[in-house]
Amino acid sequence: MVKNQKTLKIHQKIPDIILALFQKIPGSKLNAQDLRVLTTILNDSWKTNITPETMKQRLNSGSLFIIAKDLATDKDLKYLKQRLAPPINSPTIPVGIIETIDSKTGGNYNKVPKNYSALTKKGLWKPQTSKSDTLILVDATILSTRKGKNLGRKMMAYTLKNITKPHKYLWTYTPNIEKVKRWHESLGAKNTNHIIKQARPEFIYSDVNIMSYPVQQRNLYKDTKISH
Ligand SMILES: CC(C)(COP(=O)(O)OP(=O)(O)OC[C@H]1O[C@@H](n2cnc3c(N)ncnc32)[C@H](O)[C@@H]1OP(=O)(O)O)[C@@H](O)C(=O)NCCC(=O)NCCS
Repeated sequence: MVKNQKTLKIHQKIPDIILALFQKIPGSKLNAQDLRVLTTILNDSWKTNITPETMKQRLNSGSLFIIAKDLATDKDLKYLKQRLAPPINSPTIPVGIIETIDSKTGGNYNKVPKNYSALTKKGLWKPQTSKSDTLILVDATILSTRKGKNLGRKMMAYTLKNITKPHKYLWTYTPNIEKVKRWHESLGAKNTNHIIKQARPEFIYSDVNIMSYPVQQRNLYKDTKISH
């Protein structure tokens, strides 16, 4: 159990999906199994090899994370059984995560750390700082079995609606993939066309494209309903 747990904000439970903004792991909401599932979600999409311990450290960094949990479907269980030993035994599992990190840029794209490792302190994340003026949406990632149902879109809309931090800039660290860039644009982001070459050297799409969400337009998402 993690000490000094703090939930920044816990929101809707509609009807089964629970979406929450987490700052520090709320122990009663995320357990060891959840950490294992979250590592699977990330490792499968990003071809990384992070451990549940790293995940725990990351979530306890004080940065903002948005996690969706839902009742596991048969398809989820079958998929996770192939990847996780021992198999999962709780009916509710994480199905998606949005990871954010603070940065100080003064609005200058060149000040964004030049690679994922530097941005995220080797994937361990880093504490928030009161000096930060930029919130970087590092990654949005959902469980493979949940693709095609707009879960990621709903999570992002939820995030945009609920961020309360007074950042001046809200930027992404998006892999330079056309479809993913279109996905962000459809949610209101603008392409800054600022490319950071080789920012994710281990990932097949190693270049990163900074996209910018309009801070002042976050209320656009105010009425977003999150449901199945
Ligand atoms: C990006 C993501 C969160 C979107 O979730 P969603 O809103 O539920 O939408 P979907 O998963 O159905 O994806 C939307 C479209 O983007 C495409 N897409 C998403 N991630 C992609 C990727 N990494 N590479 C290529 N295409 C991708 C999907 O194939 C889909 O295309 P389609 O509409 O033609 O079928 C989810 O697809 C995901 O976890 N992708 C892998 C991680 C990733 O690339 N994240 C990018 C943001 S940092």
